[in-house]
Amino acid sequence: LTLLIDYEAGEGPGVCWLSPEQTAGKQKPYMYTQGQAVLNRSFFPCFDTPSVKFTYSATVKVPEGFTAVMSATSWEKQKDNTFVFKMSQPIPSYLIALVVGDIVSADVGPRSRVWAEPCLIEAAKKEYDGVIEEFLVVGEKLFGPYVWGRYDILFMPPSFPFGGMENPCLTFVTPCLLAGDRSLVDVIIHEISHSWFGNLVTNATWGEFWLNEGFTMYAQRRISTEVYGLPYTCLEAATGRALLRQHMDATGEDHPLNKLRVVIEPGLGGVNPDDTYNETPYEKGYCFVSYLAHLVGNQSKFDAFLQAYVNRFKFQSITADDTLGFFLEYFPELKEKGVDSIPGFEFDRWLNTPGWPPYLPDLSPGQQLMRPADELAELWAADGLNMEAIEAVDITGWRTYQLVYFLDQVLQKSPLPEGNVKRLSKMYPKISKAQNAELQLRWCQIVLKNNLEAEYSKVKDFLHSQGKQKYTLPLYRAMWSGSEATRALAMETFSATAPQLHVNVQNYVKKILGLEGAE
Ligand code: BES
Ligand code: ZN
Repeated sequence: LTLLIDYEAGEGPGVCWLSPEQTAGKQKPYMYTQGQAVLNRSFFPCFDTPSVKFTYSATVKVPEGFTAVMSATSWEKQKDNTFVFKMSQPIPSYLIALVVGDIVSADVGPRSRVWAEPCLIEAAKKEYDGVIEEFLVVGEKLFGPYVWGRYDILFMPPSFPFGGMENPCLTFVTPCLLAGDRSLVDVIIHEISHSWFGNLVTNATWGEFWLNEGFTMYAQRRISTEVYGLPYTCLEAATGRALLRQHMDATGEDHPLNKLRVVIEPGLGGVNPDDTYNETPYEKGYCFVSYLAHLVGNQSKFDAFLQAYVNRFKFQSITADDTLGFFLEYFPELKEKGVDSIPGFEFDRWLNTPGWPPYLPDLSPGQQLMRPADELAELWAADGLNMEAIEAVDITGWRTYQLVYFLDQVLQKSPLPEGNVKRLSKMYPKISKAQNAELQLRWCQIVLKNNLEAEYSKVKDFLHSQGKQKYTLPLYRAMWSGSEATRALAMETFSATAPQLHVNVQNYVKKILGLEGAE
C-alpha cells in the first residue's frame, strides 16, 4: 500500500523563516527546521513520537543561489537546483532536519566538513580543523561503530535556540561556538555522543528524556576524559553541577520537573515536552549514570556495559525500565546484591523523586584547576579587598572553563560588597570584555545581580547578538527579579529582539515577563 499525502507547511513552530537581517551575511533569507521535541509535526505529516523509527528520502527544490542540506546519509545535487536526500538508517521524526540558505562547506576531517554562511566559513574551518576525527575515533573505541557515515557540522544563524542539535550526519550548532580557541568544543563532543545515545538508542517517550541526555553527558565526559584528561573533565563537570544547583534553586527542588521520569500526558500534572529541556535530565541524569558506574566499580567494565547496551538496543526506542533491566541482567552479581533497592539510592527513587541527586560523582581530580578559582572568588567577595593577594594571582593562563567556574563562584557570592564588581571588571578586561559566550553569560549575570548599571548595555548587546535559550532565559529571569531599572531593560530589550527569537524562546520570555501569549 502506498499512501500519498498532499500537504502544505504553514506557520507552525517547526519551520523557521529568517529574513536576510537575521543571518550573519545579511544578504539572503534562510530557513531551518528544529524538530525536537514535538515540532516536526508542523513540518511534515508523521508519527511525531520518538517511539517510532523510519528511514526517509526527500527531494528539495530551492531557488538559484541557495543550497539545501538535511540530516541524511546521502545527498546529491541534480539539475534545477534540486537536492535529493536519503537517510538509510531508521530514525525518529525529531531527527529529520532541513536547512536552506546561502551556505558553503569546507573539509575538516576524513568524514567531516563544516557548513556555514560564506562570511563565517573561514572561522568555522579554523575552529575545528583536524579535531573532529579524534572525537569520533574515541567514541567508536568506547561505544562501538559509528553507523551514520559522515559527521558534518552546520553553523546556524545567531538566533538558533540551542548550543547544538544532534541531527544525524549533520549536527546543527550555534555560531557562539566560534570562540577562536576551540574552548567550547564540549558541545561538539556532546552532539557526537548522541550518535550512540539518543540517535541509535532512543528514549521511547519524552517523559524519559534523561535517557538521551544523561547517558550523552556521561559519554561526552568519557570522551573528554580520554582526550583532555580527568582534571579538565572534572572542571567542566563542576560547571555543569553549578548549573543544576542554580536550576534547582530557581525552580525549587520539589518541582515535578526535577525528577528523571516526568509525566507528559496533558491534564493533571502533565507537562509540555519542551519544558523538559532543563538541567535535571542532563546533570541529574549524568549523576545517575555515574552512580551505575560507581556500583560496577570498574571503569572498563562499565565501558563494556555501555557498548553492550548500545549494541542490544541500537535502532530501537526504549524506556528506563529496559535500560535498568539490562543493567541488572548484564551484572547478575549486582542484581543478586539488590543494588536496585539500597535505601536512599533506590532506582525507583532516582527516577520518580524530585530533588538533588542522592549520589554525586567525585570531581576532586579537578581540584588542581578549581582551587585557584575558588580562592580568587573568596578574595573578591571580601569586605575590604586584599589587592595584594588578588594581584598575586595571574589568570592570564587560565582556561575558559576555569574562568567560567570562577565566575559561577562569584555569582553565587553576589551581591558582593559595594564597589568590588566594578574593580573586578577593571582588573580583568579578559572577562568583562570577553567575546566568549559562556563568559559573557556569566558576566551579564554578575552585572545584574550586583546592579552594575554602568554595564547594563553589555546585557542588552549580548541578547541582541544571539538567541540561545540557555543564555536568554536566565538573563530575563535575572532582569525581571531585579530593580525597576533592570525590568525596564528587560522590556526594552525584548521588544527590540523578539522577532529574531525562536517562537518557543519568545513564549518562554513572555512567560517570565508576565506578557500574554504564554501557554
Ligand atoms: N538535543 C539537545 C538539544 C535539544 C533538547 C533540542 C531539547 C530541543 C529540545 C542537544 O543535544 C543538547 O543537549 N544541546 C546542549 C549542549 C550542551 C549540553 C553541551 C545545548 O544546546 O545546550
Ligand atoms: Zn544533548
